[in-house]
Amino acid sequence: MTPDVASLLKYLSVPDFRYRDAHARPARRAHERPARAGLNIFALVSLVRGVGRTTLAANLTTTLGRRGLRAAAVDLDPRADLRAHFRERLDALTRSPMEVRPRLATAFHHGVKGDLSGGVDPAGGSIQAVQQGAGGAEIEWPERNVGFVPLVLDHASTVEAAWDCDAVVLDTAAGASDAVEQALAEADEVIIVARPNRENVNAVHATEALLARYRMRSWRRTRARYLINRFDGRRPADRVALAELRHLLGPRLVPTAIQDDTAVPEALVEGRCIEDFAPGSQVVSDLQAVARELAP
Ligand SMILES: Nc1ncnc2c1ncn2[C@@H]1O[C@H](COP(=O)(O)OP(=O)(O)O)[C@@H](O)[C@H]1O
Ligand SMILES: [Mg+2]
Repeated sequence: MTPDVASLLKYLSVPDFRYRDAHARPARRAHERPARAGLNIFALVSLVRGVGRTTLAANLTTTLGRRGLRAAAVDLDPRADLRAHFRERLDALTRSPMEVRPRLATAFHHGVKGDLSGGVDPAGGSIQAVQQGAGGAEIEWPERNVGFVPLVLDHASTVEAAWDCDAVVLDTAAGASDAVEQALAEADEVIIVARPNRENVNAVHATEALLARYRMRSWRRTRARYLINRFDGRRPADRVALAELRHLLGPRLVPTAIQDDTAVPEALVEGRCIEDFAPGSQVVSDLQAVARELAP
């Protein structure tokens, strides 16, 4: 059903009328599961490449985790770029192998069939159980409260691995795909990441159409908000694009725009999060404001 038809039906308010789109594929039933109280799943999506989905997935997860939530970033993009943002912390874990296993997840999820392995750590502590989803996804903990689930082929399993967290941030590929459809179906909140430029303003229409199409098939009705990344108020083009996006989206635009900062790619080169690489920067305070916005 197109948004036009939806609003027409709403306007007409025909009682008991159920519109059925004969061309719509049915929602995927296989991965359907109820929302779990206390778990908030955020899907970062965009039709436009290079807007910062992966960067924000990694860094928002870190910020949420450091605010005391049990947070995990989940890689659903075949490019598998997410790990690079946690590299320094993950490398530190592999350098001290005795510490690795106890830090691996206890990702219990009701109803998941998988290998539940456990045992005794050679260092003396007891190894926590590692829950693998059916597709082999496993959560790793770069630091306390900050989890990372690498890409595996079975997307549903990837999301399941982080099921016992408080906040899960899904990193997706640009454009429409089965993984994006799955992410939209899983998400409690969809965050469309956009850069303040013409290409992203022009993409709003197609993005809304995609959301309307996918969300109709989703079993959860998610909120969808837009988050601006790489804003620099000194650039006139950024200010114009921001004003246009505000006009188009109104309250669906997250009030905080994330600053464009060269520290962001520099942090990535070192495999570090921005909070550690550039503490006190504008971009870190923007991330914290967005984290408060998403998880008050
Ligand atoms: N706030 C920012 N300031 C500066 N550069 C950024 C910012 N956010 C992302 N980038 C850079 O933009 C590029 C694309 O980011 P990435 O997260 O890979 O985008 P996507 O996952 O949407 O394709 C990367 O080089 C990243 O370092
Ligand atoms: Mg990416």
